[in-house]
Parts: sequence; structure tokens; C-alpha cells
Amino acid sequence: NTDKKVDDLLKKMTLNEKIGQLNQYSGFWDFTGPVPKDGDAAKKYQDIKSGLVGAMLNVKGVKNIYKLQKIAVEETRLGIPLLFGYDIIHGYKTISPIPLAESASWDLLAIQKSAEIAAEEAAAAGINWTFAPMIDVTRDARWGRVMEGAGEDTFLGIKIAEARIKGFQGNLSSNKNIIACAKHFAGYGFAEAGKEYNTVDVSNETLQNIIFPPFKAAVAAGVRSFMNSFNQLNGIPATGNKYLQRDILKGAWDFQGFVVSDWGSIKELVTHGYAKDNIHAAEIAINAGSDMDMESNVYIKYLNDLVKNGKVNESTIDDAVRRVLKVKFELGLFENPYKYCDEAYEKATIGKPEFQEGVLDMAKKSIVLLKNEINLLPLKKSGQKIALIGALANDKNSPLGNWRLAADDHSAISVLEGLQKYKGNQLTYAKGADVIVGETRFAKEVKVNTTDKTGFEEAIATAKNANVVIMVLGENGFQSGEGRSRTDIGLPGVQQELLEAVYAVNKNIVLVLNNGRPLAFPWAAEHVPAIVEAWQLGTQSGNAIAEVLYGDYNPSGKLTMTFPRNVGQLPIYYNYKSTGRPMQEKDPDVVFWSHYIDEKDNPLYPFGYGLSYSKFEYSNIQLDKISFSENGNIKVSVDLKNNSEIIGKEVVQLYIRDLVGSFARPVKELKGFEMVELKPFESKTITFIINQKTIEFYTANSKWEAEPGDFKVFVGGNSEATLEADFQYLK
Ligand code: IFM
Repeated sequence: NTDKKVDDLLKKMTLNEKIGQLNQYSGFWDFTGPVPKDGDAAKKYQDIKSGLVGAMLNVKGVKNIYKLQKIAVEETRLGIPLLFGYDIIHGYKTISPIPLAESASWDLLAIQKSAEIAAEEAAAAGINWTFAPMIDVTRDARWGRVMEGAGEDTFLGIKIAEARIKGFQGNLSSNKNIIACAKHFAGYGFAEAGKEYNTVDVSNETLQNIIFPPFKAAVAAGVRSFMNSFNQLNGIPATGNKYLQRDILKGAWDFQGFVVSDWGSIKELVTHGYAKDNIHAAEIAINAGSDMDMESNVYIKYLNDLVKNGKVNESTIDDAVRRVLKVKFELGLFENPYKYCDEAYEKATIGKPEFQEGVLDMAKKSIVLLKNEINLLPLKKSGQKIALIGALANDKNSPLGNWRLAADDHSAISVLEGLQKYKGNQLTYAKGADVIVGETRFAKEVKVNTTDKTGFEEAIATAKNANVVIMVLGENGFQSGEGRSRTDIGLPGVQQELLEAVYAVNKNIVLVLNNGRPLAFPWAAEHVPAIVEAWQLGTQSGNAIAEVLYGDYNPSGKLTMTFPRNVGQLPIYYNYKSTGRPMQEKDPDVVFWSHYIDEKDNPLYPFGYGLSYSKFEYSNIQLDKISFSENGNIKVSVDLKNNSEIIGKEVVQLYIRDLVGSFARPVKELKGFEMVELKPFESKTITFIINQKTIEFYTANSKWEAEPGDFKVFVGGNSEATLEADFQYLK
């Protein structure tokens, strides 16, 4: 039925009107003010009036969106409504944790709920399309955009992609859901040296087994749009990559939605050295399957001529337009173009208490306890002198992280504010030192404070006098995100010095980390007794951290990216391949094996790692049989005990190793996980099923299949799980 409506409309459209549907402009002028008279804004305004725009981005608020939608619907010949896209990456006005933090919850329902909140709030502000989720697998913490994804694992990445898409899109006919966008297709997370927009060279095996699966899952989950990526992939820029967009996405995976370019990425085909000019770039991109042009302005300028002179078939344009119109019909925009435009509803919805509760819940679930020696945590509720140190402890902006475009500045609860709600202890705050100096948001270079230590003295005096010192250190919210690659992933600026100076007078330190990427902090990991990974947790950040520090919430988060000891170990990830000369645990003095001569081989904290205030013990791995074949399975069970007086949750993880493959297989691959809650001293037997699906991969036969042979299975609380058993898959 929708297809028929699309075809009927398409028949009425002129070539220019069709091309208009493939044109997306960014906002940045006052829509409720006077009509723009000249320049870029006037041109955009005129194009909307002439039916030459299919979508906008960066326009928010019902007043603005209503104004533009009205022009499109009431003043153009065919009255086709506009899509309004926006980067709702982790919330609209009410900000949830950065996606990397959310992934550390391993809680798929909570992640889905978080996306639902973001969608509902954004939809209330008139937006009908988010440029999320980012589902690039990421292994290199130097890359600033690791904050936007679900970390380094493909299996977990698939589950989280599905949860986010479900949360955003839910029921598209309702006014609470919006369309999602799987991005960036493909390979962006593998930028060389973690440098933003850099070239990507990966094998087909890595592409198929590691990078593609979350995207394929996104298609199966019904995502309505894809965004291609800025990078070249094996020599061909993704935007102009026919193999990616036509052969794989729209071919093998049968994707029926539309592909939007990234900002200006069609024009950038020229700077890549892949197109000779903008006209050529437009030709390459549309033929390769990029349906919508985001801010390159080349489709609107050149596609008409390209069709007329035979470089682009009109049927190619028709296919792209069909995809865009279909989504507009599915959203119900033709029935009611103003379905997202109700000012009273907007007012009542933005920031509502349920959203605050939701993002607080998500924030608590995202926190990862990395170390807790001498039982510093949870804090005692009374009779303590607590010193709180660090500029980030009193920062209401940084916890919002990057990509929080619509959030009010300084709208997060700081750690200081969160801790102040607990009245039983004496709390004294000292800044110690700033993390950064000056403007960061759009600064090309984020200036770190490397000199000003004037606050050290006060911090040291405060620490001397305390029973416990809480130090909140790490990155400013704008030190990660797009365009924020770093070559040094230690604590920025003078913070390491501050930490050591405070430690010299009081060793009872709880280090609370705020960061948008894995950091390397080997000194702290060795010396500081308690470390809490608290990322950038959004609007409710300080409340969530305080509840965890005081034990009103028992942490259960687990890392989804490996934390290195040293930036030189990057890229580092748990599912690496064995070399011919792997690490020699038995004889570490041998020279000619794969290792560094100046650093340990293993990470500071592995993938899947995270502690709890409860003490979990794993034992008794059992397999119900030792082999299975097609249509069969093996049941793996393990006993988990909470050997403590505190109720807690544990993410039980199952990994396999395929010992011999037509492509050599990783030393471990996550294949299952389950969140288990145990009362004090309670035990449970947890079971997982291994079947053919579990062991399938993209083989040297160029297909997904299970290869017969020997396997190992591991179960435990992180990727270094040691309980193991053997099984076989028989053909
Ligand atoms: O959605 C983003 C994309 O991830 C990076 N470039 C800009 C787009 C729109 O803001």
C-alpha cells in the first residue's frame, strides 16, 4: 500500500522535484524572524518554497519546525513534508550517559529505554529523525568518537544496535518515536592511528566478521536510514563506494530505507582524490547509492544535468526518491505533517520527571567499579571527613559530554552537588587544578592546563585533614567526540601530578574518572586503592556517582573497551588473533615472541571487566555433551555465588575459541551474556546454549557457516575468564 502511494506521488513529480527530495540543508537562521533576504539562508529558504528540499538538519523546537513544515506543505506544488534530522546521540535536552558509558551497563532494556526517552523528548521538540545509533566497532581509544559507540565487540555491538533502534523507532505511527540512522557505513571506527577522518585499510575478513555484522543487524531491526562515512575504505571513499551501498547494503542485505551522506562528504570525494570536481562527485555518489546529500549542495546543483547528459539514469534518482518518500509515509507525515508540532505538548514533555528518573537509572547502571581495595567503598554515611578534589567535581557542563547539542549548558548535577545531599559527613571541596583552559566546544585544539598549579596547596591541605579523599579527574566533556583525536590518553594536564601530590599526604583516595574514552592510568591503577569509572554520565551524573559511592546503588557495569597501560598498545582489544609467536607466559624471558620490550603485553583492565560491592565466585563449568552437529546444541552451565552480605548484579559472560579455522579465529569471542542478580550468599546455576549459530563466521568460502572442529568455551566475569571446557562441532 505504501509502495503504491509512493509510486503515485513519484509519477506526479518533475525531475527537479525528485532531486529536491534528495537535498538536505542545515538550519542556522531564525525561522520565526524575518524572511532571509540574501546569502546562503535566502537560497535555502527559496529552495524550501520551491519544493527543492527533502530534509533539514539542526533545526529544533516546534515553533521553528512548524514554520518550515508549513512552507513545504502549504506553499510548494506537491506539498511533500520535510524530514527534520538532528544528532540525538544521548538525549535531547535531558542528557543520558554517553553511548560508550551506556554500553558498559550491558543492560539492553535500560539502553532501549534510554533511546525511548531521547526519542520522546526530541519528537516533542518537532524532530522526526535522529542520526543515531553510531554502530562502528572501535578499538582505538585515540579516536574521539569512541564515546559514541558501543565499544570494541561485534556481538555486544549487535545487541546494543538492536536495542537502540527499537528504542528510537518503536512504533513509527506514534508521535513519540522517530526514525533512526545506522552510522557510519563503513569502517570509520578503524581510522588509521585513531586520527579523525583518516584512511581505513582493513581486510575483507575483518570487514565481514567484525565491522559489518552490527550494520546487518540494524537492517534486520528495521532501521529506516543509514549514513555513510567520511573515510576511504580500502582505497574507495565510503560515500562513493558502490560495493558498500549497492552490493552489500541494498543488495545482499536488501535494505529498503535510504542512505544519507555525511556532512559534505559528497564534495569531499574531490579532496579524497576520487572525483575530479563536484559534478563528478555528485555522479559517483548517486550511482554508488548515496541517496541524500547532506550539505554538499551538489545534488541540487548538478543531478539534473547529469540525468540529461546520460551520466545518471533517471531510474537511479527514482529509486533514491522512492526510499525517502516511503519513510515519510511510514512516519505518517503525509497524513499529518504537524504530528510532531504541538507547542503545549513540547512544553509539558521536555525535561519531565520520568525522563530525569530514566537517565539517572541509566547513569547508575553505566558506572564501572575498577578497583576497591581496603574497603574504601562504599563510603560510611556518617562520622567521616571527606575531601573532594578536582575541577571536574564541581563542573556542571563537562558531564554532559560531547554531542549534547540541545542541552542547556551547565545543566548537569555535579559530583559536589550529588555528594552534598548526603549530610552525615563533613565534605570539603578544593579544585586543585583546572583540566583545560579557555573555550573547548568548537576549538580546533583543546588547550589543556599544563602550568597552573596554584590550587595544589589548598587541595593538599584539604586532603591532609580528611579520612577519605575523593578525586574526580579525567577529561573535559569536549575532549572526546568528533574531531577530538588524542595522541596522549593519560590524565590530561597537571592532574597526574595533583594525584601524586595528594597521595603523598593521604593514601585513602577514591579516584572517580570522567572520560569519553578509555584512558591509560597505570600509576593510579597500582597505587590508588579505589577507582570508579564514571565516564560522562549526563544530566544526573552527580546524583548517580554519589549513590554509587555511598552504596545506595551497587555497581554492575563492565568495560566494553579494553583499557590500555599505555597509548603505544593501541589498537588493543580482547579478541585479537594469536600470532605464530604468542606471549610466552611460561618463559617470559625469551626475546623472539610477540611483545613490547618496554611495556607489559596485557591491558590495564580487560574488556568485560568490572567489580561490584558483592563478591561473585564462579565454579563448576559443565557441558551436557562434548560435541554437537547441525541442528544440535550443547548446554553450558556454571555456578555463580554471591559470597557477600550485599545484594548485587553480575554480567556473566560466555566466550568461545575456535581452535582452527579457514581464517584463523580470535583467541576469544564473546558469544553470550546474562545479567544475574543474587541475594547475599545466594548461588545460581547459569546456563547458555551453544549451537551452530554461535560458531558461524564468514569463512574463506566467502559465506557464513560453521566449520567442524575443536572449540573451547570460557565463562566468567570478564574476557580473561578462566573456567574453560572443550567441545567439538561435527559435520
Ligand atoms: O551525524 C553527524 C555525523 O555523525 C558526523 N558529521 C555530521 C553529522 C550531522 O551532524
